[in-house]
Amino acid sequence: MTENNKKTPETLRSARWLAANDFRSFNHRSRMMQMGYGKEDWEGAPIIAILSTWSDLNPCHHHFKNRIEDVKRGVTMAGGLPVELPCLSLFENFVKPSALLYRNMLAMEVEELLRSNPIDGVILMGGCDKTTPGLLLGAISMQIPTIFIPAGPMLRGNYRGETLGSGSDAFKYWDEYRADNISSEELEGICGGIARSAGTCMTMGTASTMTAITEAIGLSLPGASSIPAVDTSHNRMCARSGKRVVEMVWEDITPKKILTKNSFKNGISVAMAMGCSTNAIIHLIALARRADCDINLVDFDNVSREVPVIANVRPSGDNYLMEDFYYAGGILGLMNRLKDFLYLNAETVSGKTVGENTRPGEVYNNDVIRHLDNPIYKEGALAVLKGNLAPNGCVIKASACNPKFLHHSGQAIVFDDYPSYKSFVDNETIDITEDHILILRNAGPKGGPGMPEWGMLPIPTKLVKQGVRDMLRISDARMSGTSYGACILHVSPESFVGGALGLVQTGDTITVHVENRSIDVEVSDEELEKRKEKWVQPPARFQRGYGWMYTNHIQQADKGCDFDYLETSFGEPTGEPAI
Ligand code: FES
Ligand code: MG
Repeated sequence: MTENNKKTPETLRSARWLAANDFRSFNHRSRMMQMGYGKEDWEGAPIIAILSTWSDLNPCHHHFKNRIEDVKRGVTMAGGLPVELPCLSLFENFVKPSALLYRNMLAMEVEELLRSNPIDGVILMGGCDKTTPGLLLGAISMQIPTIFIPAGPMLRGNYRGETLGSGSDAFKYWDEYRADNISSEELEGICGGIARSAGTCMTMGTASTMTAITEAIGLSLPGASSIPAVDTSHNRMCARSGKRVVEMVWEDITPKKILTKNSFKNGISVAMAMGCSTNAIIHLIALARRADCDINLVDFDNVSREVPVIANVRPSGDNYLMEDFYYAGGILGLMNRLKDFLYLNAETVSGKTVGENTRPGEVYNNDVIRHLDNPIYKEGALAVLKGNLAPNGCVIKASACNPKFLHHSGQAIVFDDYPSYKSFVDNETIDITEDHILILRNAGPKGGPGMPEWGMLPIPTKLVKQGVRDMLRISDARMSGTSYGACILHVSPESFVGGALGLVQTGDTITVHVENRSIDVEVSDEELEKRKEKWVQPPARFQRGYGWMYTNHIQQADKGCDFDYLETSFGEPTGEPAI
């Protein structure tokens, strides 16, 4: 402990459980001793929870079981007592219908696990898409010293010497297989080579986007987010995080002392420069609202118009993956290059500012991390569009689609749900061209529910065989961060609550103009009004349980899809539990 310490052994949160000379504390101490701990383990030692989202069904976090040992080593070295608390693991690929459906469940679990137990500080271990925001949302609401450990990206994929990227190449080669351009044996080979180590998707998907954002807003140690999962730097980063969080407990550095509107704006700038996943918008808005900071779609669009994409990582970039990004200097190199767009005085968990953390950052490969005057896309990755089809906004990843669709008019073909689209996609007798616009509805926050990643609708097989690889698609769903193409997502309000997307009919003309940030259906207000009068809300998918609760309390995409009752402004602060 130094003289800067604000906490003493007596004022540790865990001391409320363990230090008093009363019956309850006697009981608590006896149960600690039941596990083999003695007084010397906990007296004056901050208890650090390690919240790990490991599971046998989460390959992205497969290495966490070992990394927990590194974290424990760091905590112990610094005089803390590490305790492991497993929590909900959300593997993006397996969890159906959508891992987003369970992000808020994880957030609630984190908040309540921390509140109800004798915990002084917390290490959050996540990375696979929704685990990062889920863990952070809970920790922000709980407000005890927190460091996030990112799982780190997996190694590059490889098949017969050719590099493969998560998600992006799965979509690509599945299309080539459908077009009879590759054999089923080749497809199996790709299947075995595309994910060949522990770690998160190594394209710039939601995982790498969210871990970069977490570091940019100040909640991970400097450089942590770019380290590949299986690099031994990752073990060392885990130990350092464990050590540092103990110091943070004594210094009483809680998330609210780090998170400000400026730190969230740093998060947006870094996300844009990375060529981020569209999911970043939903999560960052939710995180900012929990932290009581006003961040909305306009902030994203403003930053997007200024900050170019300089990370040449797929799917926005052409050749490179997260492993290359790390060797090229990683996030510290990128943030140093981006310094004119960042609030350098923002605080971080390291105890230093963003400026101090990133000043040593260097770039070793200017093709992977580009100079600002040689970007891979001149504006930011995402654009927010508004119009009569999406009065509260929708999103397109303009950096990852065929530019011809950035200004496009075409006739709508409408699908009321994903199964109807699936039965349509392989029908080769349909009358369709690449200029049609595919509409999917009832896939939003309430209608999905949970906004499944259906927004990158597969191109109809008939067109794939003609060589078509992109089309304009519009939905209230999301898409994977590893997806690409002219997909307009997150239409708000969603169709399930009577949004205009629910009123579009097959044959209507829709015009999208990304430069002007507009999206409109060419139908008069009167006609839309008439259609609205006849509109009937479809039945909710869940009539009981978590799904029912979700549909009744989830907010729209432009508000971050948090539950209304989890928002910081909802009700009085919860406070500490009675002991
Ligand atoms: Fe886990 Fe992509 S599936 S990060
Ligand atoms: Mg994903």
